Amino acid sequence: MSANDPVPAPPLAVGTGLPWDVCVDDAVAAIASARARHGDTFAVASGNDNYLFTFSPAGVEAFYRLPEDKASKGVADYLMLRRKLPDEIFDGRRLLPTSLFRRDDVASYLKNLDCALTETVAELGPDGTVDLFGLTRRLGHRMGLASWAGPGSAQGTPFDRLVAAFETLDGSDAFVHPDSMAAVAAGGKQAERAALDEIVAVIETAVHATASDQVDESDLFGRIVRAWSQEPDDVRMRGIALDVALIHIASMSNLMAALGWALVDLLEHPDEQKRVASGDSEFAQRCALESTRLAQRSIMSRAVLAPVDLDTGDVIYRVPAGWTIATLLPLLNTSAAPGLRTWDPDRWQRHRLADTAALPSPMLVTAFGHGKHSCPAQPFSLAAMSVAMTRLLNIYEMTPGWTSYPKPVPAQIGGVARSVDPCPVSYVRR
Ligand code: HEM
Repeated sequence: MSANDPVPAPPLAVGTGLPWDVCVDDAVAAIASARARHGDTFAVASGNDNYLFTFSPAGVEAFYRLPEDKASKGVADYLMLRRKLPDEIFDGRRLLPTSLFRRDDVASYLKNLDCALTETVAELGPDGTVDLFGLTRRLGHRMGLASWAGPGSAQGTPFDRLVAAFETLDGSDAFVHPDSMAAVAAGGKQAERAALDEIVAVIETAVHATASDQVDESDLFGRIVRAWSQEPDDVRMRGIALDVALIHIASMSNLMAALGWALVDLLEHPDEQKRVASGDSEFAQRCALESTRLAQRSIMSRAVLAPVDLDTGDVIYRVPAGWTIATLLPLLNTSAAPGLRTWDPDRWQRHRLADTAALPSPMLVTAFGHGKHSCPAQPFSLAAMSVAMTRLLNIYEMTPGWTSYPKPVPAQIGGVARSVDPCPVSYVRR
């Protein structure tokens, strides 16, 4: 370590690296092993980056209190996503994913979810076999594109073209498959740029289909179109399409992975499945929350922009600019107190844990985060998961094709887990 290191010097986990920089069998296990050797707060030097990980109750509480102007979540997210996404997608955005939750927006997304479920059921037909996570992903694309990609983008050929392009451009690859980011860089992001051009071409058609007097500002797509209305045509088309693209990339992928795990867990728990299928939406939301907690694989990080203090309980570290302060949800969510490894929707009372007495801090467990950066989409996400679970399980009898509980992608270090193997389910209309 050098002069530009935290003071006092934290223990350094020599030999530990993150999967962007070194080959690791299991990214979460690698950090767990460093924690077992060095205690709750330690440094990791990986590639050109330095991380201060903290897992102590005081350290995690201090982490959630860090001020954005000194220790930035936005910058940390950007640094992670730019490993996969071309720089131009971040330049000059006018409507950001943070503008997704204005009044009335959620109602319109849920309406689009309803239509997307109708189309999903039509595609599934009366019986068959489908990959569960593939099904929820396609559903997410359909709901999202109907909500912000303009007329016609969630049906037919435009939909299929957009899905193919977004699967290539998928920003979550940056944390689901961190080990493939060196290859993305080596390829100069050519495949991603081609996918972005394809998205621009499809969205352009949607913009042309929207007459200027039909732009509806209560609709997200309308707000995006309006934000670019004063620009010359070529700038305008690309600007609109890139706003749509960043919103779509930032929004759906964790939600649909979480829905996949919620369905996995309900298929493993037939009594609870019946209760959800019968329409108990309050219970369905608690099931969704519980599955999301267990499937959390998130690295929570803050990029330090100006020196900042982190009080970990026994030591206060002065962390310099250039470092990243981080914690890792999968190392807390299932082990911060006894009994957290099992799936138990009754541990939640609405969106909070019913009993936190055994936890050294209630902030050690979360599905949607704590503090001012906690997820603005939590109510919408739980409502959407609940509606989708209820509808699918009410219409279909589903039988899992897996023999043991699905496992996450081992290298994944961020977001909600993705299953490493296909998860086929056979289904038949009830
Ligand atoms: C089940 C699905 C989801 C889960 C588990 C989830 C989880 C999280 C978590 C843990 C955080 C806090 C991260 C941190 O403190 O570093 C967060 C923040 C955020 N989430 Fe979600 N999220 C989900 C769905 C969504 C959706 C659908 C959107 C749509 C746009 C969204 C948008 C955001 C935004 C914009 C933030 C940053 C808020 C801020 O910095 O103030 N999330 N989410």
